[in-house]
Amino acid sequence: MAKNAKNSVKGKRILITGGLGFIGSNLAHRCLDQGAKVTILDCLDPHSGGNLFNIREIRDDVKLVISDVLNFDEVSRQVMDKDILFNCAASTSHPFSMKEPWIDLDVNCRGVINLLEAVRRFNKEMKIVHIGTSTQLGKLHFRPANETHPEFPTDIYSANKSVSEKYVLIYGAAYNMPVTVIRFPNVFGPRASIHSSDFTFVNYFIGLALQDKAITIYGDGAQLRNVLYVDDCVDALINAALSQKANGEVYFAAGDEHYSVALIAKDIVKYIKSGHTKFIPWPAERKVTEIGDAVISNKKIKTELSWKPRVGFADGLIKTKQYFSTCLENYLR
Ligand SMILES: NC(=O)c1ccc[n+]([C@@H]2O[C@H](COP(=O)([O-])OP(=O)(O)OC[C@H]3O[C@@H](n4cnc5c(N)ncnc54)[C@H](O)[C@@H]3O)[C@@H](O)[C@H]2O)c1
Repeated sequence: MAKNAKNSVKGKRILITGGLGFIGSNLAHRCLDQGAKVTILDCLDPHSGGNLFNIREIRDDVKLVISDVLNFDEVSRQVMDKDILFNCAASTSHPFSMKEPWIDLDVNCRGVINLLEAVRRFNKEMKIVHIGTSTQLGKLHFRPANETHPEFPTDIYSANKSVSEKYVLIYGAAYNMPVTVIRFPNVFGPRASIHSSDFTFVNYFIGLALQDKAITIYGDGAQLRNVLYVDDCVDALINAALSQKANGEVYFAAGDEHYSVALIAKDIVKYIKSGHTKFIPWPAERKVTEIGDAVISNKKIKTELSWKPRVGFADGLIKTKQYFSTCLENYLR
């Protein structure tokens, strides 16, 4: 289907940790479409976007293991007979990581070590694709930022994602394991957690518009952000999984365009066709972790993995509206 994903995962045995969440469940759908055997390991963490509804159409086609990445024995069992591990499991809320730093540390650092150790001990040939985040960089020192940009994260979640990415690269280099890290900006689309401002703001704004509510923008909303539709995100993960060249590498899979937060909100109202925008002063607790403009280059992944974003913001919003139009209530918990 996708030009980007011409190297299909057909016939591969795939483990998706965090596969009940936003990105993991979209990836699970795609892998099944391509003819892979998919196992999902997820603990339905109440502070993240895991949702059984995300796999309702494929529930009989995937093996679902309700377990925690902190359960080393279960993780070890699950990696033994697989070809690819996509690590989409994480504690994914920036604000929650500031309130409960130990939980974030456990899942986002110790959980990653568990996966790496399990693979090293029981299935060292298995390809690991790990997800990082553009917020690892913090305030930009130069722009567009690329993979060589230093990392000065401004919240605990981003700091732990930065550290766990290094664990992945260390295991790759020290034990000759095939690993790749793909860092994403704000990913949006179907199956996202849209009910809380704790998660990606674009999805939260979409959720507000779908409910015909006010979208609140802090300050003037002039800071630039990168957005990526979830199908493009899935393309990047699959390309990375199937590329030898990607082993030991970090890539930013970002959209081609950058938009101000205010314009993102305006476009959401325009294409979702409901909701309205409202500007208020910055809350103190959000201001301290604000990073200013986030302008990111996608040149490396385009050049090395023949990936490019295919879905523009407007088209992505229309597809997202279509998805939620029949099932919104399942995402408003
Ligand atoms: N959504 C974005 O915009 C975005 C941007 C950059 C990076 N990321 C990264 O992508 C990955 C997936 O994010 P997402 O948006 O799909 O988040 P999500 O919150 O929707 O999904 C995360 C999943 O991980 C599961 N999980 C949490 N703790 C777990 C544990 N201890 N054991 C097993 N499963 C656990 C949750 O139940 C959930 O299903 C994460 O690593 C996240 O940091 C996401």
